[in-house]
Amino acid sequence: MRRQVVIIGSGPSGLLLGQLLHRIGIDALILERSSKEHVLSRVRAGVLEEGTVGLVRATGLAGRLDAQGLRHDGIEFAFDGQRHRIDLHELSGGKRVVVYGQTELTADLMAGREAVGAETVYEAADVMPHGFDTDTPYVTYVHGGVTHRVDCDFIAGCDGYHGISRRAVPAGAISTFERSYPFGWLGLLAEVPPVSHELIYASHPRGFALCSMRSPTRSRYYVQCDGDEKVENWSDQRFWDELRRRLPADAADAVTTGPSFEKSIAGLRSFVAEPMRFGRLFLCGDAAHIVPPTGAKGLNLAASDVHYLFEALREFYGERSAAGLDAYSPRALARVWKAVRFSWWMTLLLHRFPDASPFAEKLRATELDYVTTSRHAAAALAENYVGLPY
Ligand code: APR
Ligand code: PHB
Repeated sequence: MRRQVVIIGSGPSGLLLGQLLHRIGIDALILERSSKEHVLSRVRAGVLEEGTVGLVRATGLAGRLDAQGLRHDGIEFAFDGQRHRIDLHELSGGKRVVVYGQTELTADLMAGREAVGAETVYEAADVMPHGFDTDTPYVTYVHGGVTHRVDCDFIAGCDGYHGISRRAVPAGAISTFERSYPFGWLGLLAEVPPVSHELIYASHPRGFALCSMRSPTRSRYYVQCDGDEKVENWSDQRFWDELRRRLPADAADAVTTGPSFEKSIAGLRSFVAEPMRFGRLFLCGDAAHIVPPTGAKGLNLAASDVHYLFEALREFYGERSAAGLDAYSPRALARVWKAVRFSWWMTLLLHRFPDASPFAEKLRATELDYVTTSRHAAAALAENYVGLPY
């Protein structure tokens, strides 16, 4: 079998890239380790930058996103019993974000891919990229007990942090940078109206809390928890009590509680692998970098990687120029590191660190005061939150 591009992974990175390539007649096969149902069962974040929305529109599959996505012009920071609004729209010169669940986006992209008959092999086992340091790369995988080989021009490693693509690169050719944070986020999804029409990021002596949403009738909440906390220890009642304790009184009073239909704990980490290109293998999205969710940047960074890689492939096939491919890694990494910095900064600003000195806590309180009272500081926050330009 031969394809122009083999994409490993059917998360948002792989699906976005696959659809953009399909639209310009570049033939790509997606190989996904899990089943479709498993991919669609994963609950992830839900804040889309305008650039991400633009990319989804370019796939021709933004119908539901445009109809149901919630446009947000601001966010709130809550601390010391007070709520402070950051006017993202005004401070960023007219930009906004759209709240739309990543799971929904994945479902839209998968349905679009099926509708045009583009192929995804689900439950592809032992996927392995080969020969990417030559001009004749190929990928092998096992499906239904049979080993297959696909020859191609390029391999896109869109297989997330635990994927094979990054691990297939010889150790000496890759540098990694990492920081883990000594806490996690316990998230809960419930069919209840959100506490407010915008997101509330709350910093409290008991820890961080976030009020987010998926729709006008579905809420997504998080509370900071210990890194080794177990989800079984958290009844819905305990979660709601803890959430309300960390919010200012008026917000706490406005929380509508109800039974959860998803509850899970995720650790917080920053991770970057450099470079993002190895010959004819290109890493994209979580395969190359992880950010803590505080800045809502994970999905948006995957989208900007896809943007750069898609433009590079378009240029290669359209103009026979490798300039975009050569520039992919430095271009993507420049934007990645800015989002890593922003996500780290938001994480430090809003969380309780178990080992924080009194001095560090004073500085953190001062930073919160500064960012909510200085127009310049708030503008820097807004510029990053709505998304830096590609
Ligand atoms: N072979 C084939 N597929 C694989 C392999 C493998 N060895 N390993 C992982 N995969 C698949 C996973 O099952 C998953 O469906 O690759 C996909 C990777 O998807 P994501 O982890 O969602 O990563 P990505 O597409 O880069 O999405 C961006 O940013 O912060 C996040 O939550 C955000 O998931 C989002 C991500
Ligand atoms: C979410 O809705 O899941 C969400 C929103 C904002 C974040 C992180 C997660 O910063």
